[in-house]
Amino acid sequence: MSEAATLKLGDNTYDLPVITGTENEKAIDISKLRDQTGYITIDSGYKNTGATKSAITFLDGEEGILKYRGYSIEQLAEKSSFLEVAYLLIYGDLPSKSQIEEFQSTISRHTLVHEDMKKFFDGFPSKSHPMGQLSSLICSLSSFYPESLNSKQTADEQNLTMIKLLAKMATVVSWIYKKSLGHPIIYPRNNLDYVSNFLNMTFGQRTEDVEIDPVVVSAMNVLLILHADHEQNCSTSTVRMVGSSDCNLYASISAGISALWGPLHGGANQAVIEMLEQIKEDGGDTDKWINKAKDKNDGFRLMGFGHRVYKNFDPRAKIIKKACDDVLDKLGIDDPILDIAKKLEEAALNDPYFVERKLYPNVDFYSGIIYRALGFPTDMFTVLFALGRLPGWIAQWKEMRENKEPIGRPRQVYVGEVYREFVDIDKR
Ligand code: CMC
Repeated sequence: MSEAATLKLGDNTYDLPVITGTENEKAIDISKLRDQTGYITIDSGYKNTGATKSAITFLDGEEGILKYRGYSIEQLAEKSSFLEVAYLLIYGDLPSKSQIEEFQSTISRHTLVHEDMKKFFDGFPSKSHPMGQLSSLICSLSSFYPESLNSKQTADEQNLTMIKLLAKMATVVSWIYKKSLGHPIIYPRNNLDYVSNFLNMTFGQRTEDVEIDPVVVSAMNVLLILHADHEQNCSTSTVRMVGSSDCNLYASISAGISALWGPLHGGANQAVIEMLEQIKEDGGDTDKWINKAKDKNDGFRLMGFGHRVYKNFDPRAKIIKKACDDVLDKLGIDDPILDIAKKLEEAALNDPYFVERKLYPNVDFYSGIIYRALGFPTDMFTVLFALGRLPGWIAQWKEMRENKEPIGRPRQVYVGEVYREFVDIDKR
């Protein structure tokens, strides 16, 4: 017998279908609720609202499980490359050897960015934040590749738009970094894999190729894989929402980049390092800062702690913490803020305030320390998160299109004035 929920409203009862996902997740289907009852539901922050049925990423916040297309994040981080994971997310299966070679080679044919895009950098103030630049530059790709504006693109045309975006994003990100230094940009090298090419464009010099340390390439692969998708979070929901109006891929992703920028979301990786620096400069008294985070009259929050979904541990944070130790060790870096981070984590994990509220280190708590060790400045961290999240956003946008999802349009409960007679300006 199929499961149903019963809703009682006054004298009437309504049966609402129950949907069960492949991981046995249950949802009450309210899609006909307003037509049947005249009521809507309200759920600020969408804490209990499923916006879609998706086959891309599964996460279980209670058990600390994260899987892309059925593969555990632990296995993917250990055994695969970022490009393989991008392929998996977008097309649904791990690529064969020939498929990944073709994917890599197609991407490398689209890594160049239109030369006119360099002129944008002349217009940005020298200290403008890289995320603002990234969002503008990615949106502006739609004007250089106007075929993307056609919402009736064939699957092949749409695929080419996705490939171009994947290819050009790495170039744009490295250019933002180079321009922030006032250094000349480095053009892509098609004989390098995706991550090595990105690192060469970022840290290379114009006259000679840099020797890219395999430790750095491997760490970067892991970081990008861990960020590659995270189901219906703030930025991904934004990408799907914007895309649901038939808006082109570049503009939809640009909107996702803006959503990611906030310190409660991807911007937390920058905020964590700034917080750790502040604690260090303040003398390193972690107890003092733990108490500040607990004080409801103090606006301070422990950045990199807590998650809307993970209530036990964030599996990405576990992998990153270990990677952080490995990278610093292999690169011979002794970063005093790593010690502060560890002290802070230990204190918080033993403090009833954090334990009761199930607040654990999230993906952003240790990622910044690795980015720093690799040589990235703090304000580039969220841009790196965006680079990693790109395949996930693309996969989610594509799925939304393929499922022919309707335009996103929530309702509201109006609580404003009911009727007011207009008053002439001289009588107000
Ligand atoms: N420090 C101190 N208290 C906290 C923190 C924190 N980092 N996070 C949550 N709390 C408290 C909060 O004050 C509330 O307490 P009370 O019940 O007494 O009012 C309780 O824990 C529940 O918090 P919430 O804000 O209702 O939880 P949420 O699910 O709405 O927010 C969050 C989740 C991630 C926005 C929040 O934990 C936070 O602000 N963390 C710091 C920012 C951060 O690290 N963000 C990155 C998230 S992971 C990367 C990504 O995927 O975006």
